[in-house]
Formats: sequence, C-alpha cells, structure tokens
Amino acid sequence: MKIEYFHASVYGNGAMVAEEFKKQMAAKGVMVDVHHIEKMKPEEMQSADLYVFSSPGRFGKPIKEMRRFLKEVDLPSGTKYAILTTEPAPKPDKKTGKMPTEEEIGAIQHVISIMNELLKEKGLLKVAETKVYVTGLKGPLEASWQDKVQAFVIAILG
Ligand SMILES: Cc1cc2nc3c(=O)[nH]c(=O)nc-3n(C[C@H](O)[C@H](O)[C@H](O)COP(=O)(O)O)c2cc1C
Repeated sequence: MKIEYFHASVYGNGAMVAEEFKKQMAAKGVMVDVHHIEKMKPEEMQSADLYVFSSPGRFGKPIKEMRRFLKEVDLPSGTKYAILTTEPAPKPDKKTGKMPTEEEIGAIQHVISIMNELLKEKGLLKVAETKVYVTGLKGPLEASWQDKVQAFVIAILG
C-alpha cells in the first residue's frame, strides 16, 4: 500500500503530525510520501492507494491554500482519501465554565466539512477523518496527539 500525504502546515504542528503518521505507517509496512502543498502542484500528484489531506483552520474554513489545492485536485472518481485537521482544542465558556457542544462547535467550524465537499464533488471516497487539537492558536499540539494519529492510522488500515 502506498499513501501520498499533503499538508498545509504554517506553524509546524501539522508537519509534525504528518511525520508521526509516516513513522507509524512505516511500522506497519506502509510507505507514506509527505508533501507540503507549497512544494507540489496538484497536477504533479503521484499515483497512490490513498491520499491524505491535512489542513489548519482559518476563520472556520481550511486555510485558503488548501482550499485552492483541493479545487485543483484531479484524481479518478472512486479514489480513496482521508482528512486530518489541526484545530484549537475546545475551551470552556469564560462566564458559564461549560464546554461547547458539538453543535456549537459545528456552527463556527467548517474545516472538515468544506474539505469533504470539495473532494466528494469529484467522486472521491472518504475512508477516515480526524482532528488533532492544538492548545494555543499556533500550537503546541495536545498532550495525546500521537494517540490520535494512531487511531487515524488504524481507521485507515481497517
Ligand atoms: C489568525 C488565525 C485564525 C485561526 N482560525 C482558526 C479557525 O477558524 N479554525 C481553526 O480550526 N483553527 C484556527 N486557527 C488555528 C489553526 O488551526 C492552528 O494555527 C493550526 O492548526 C496550527 O497548525 P500548523 O502549525 O500546522 O499551521 C487560527 C489560527 C490563526 C493564527
């Protein structure tokens, strides 16, 4: 199995996640080629069994460079993909101390849903999606981030 992994990390957190993913997949005998989307055009994408797209969020959406990249992706219908986003960890409301519900987060965060829309309209098939949290706007990654990567690897390999 061969995986091509495209990320749009700005502050390095998504890049660390990509390297961890590559390491964990290598331990299972799966080869992963990691690319920053700045360094490769969508038309230069190599053939693979699965493509991973990873983006940081900006103002509720995937960062614009990733939106542009996904719009230009030209892969055969039925190609498998997985999505990973790095997003700020939910925090309790300052007044009530309550954590936001999934619904409240979903009302402002559309990072994963926009990535899925762009790929599904090309006929691509999603096999897994996950969020890895950062504890501040620019990082660092949450304490258990390697476990999230492990769960993502397992979800992909089935
Ligand atoms: C100006 C600014 C706006 C941001 N807005 C969002 C957002 O709307 N949604 C989100 O999930 N993350 C947002 N973030 C946090 C990014 O998700 C975070 O910087 C990123 O996950 C870090 O990954 P990277 O180190 O790979 O770039 C924002 C960060 C900055 C600096």
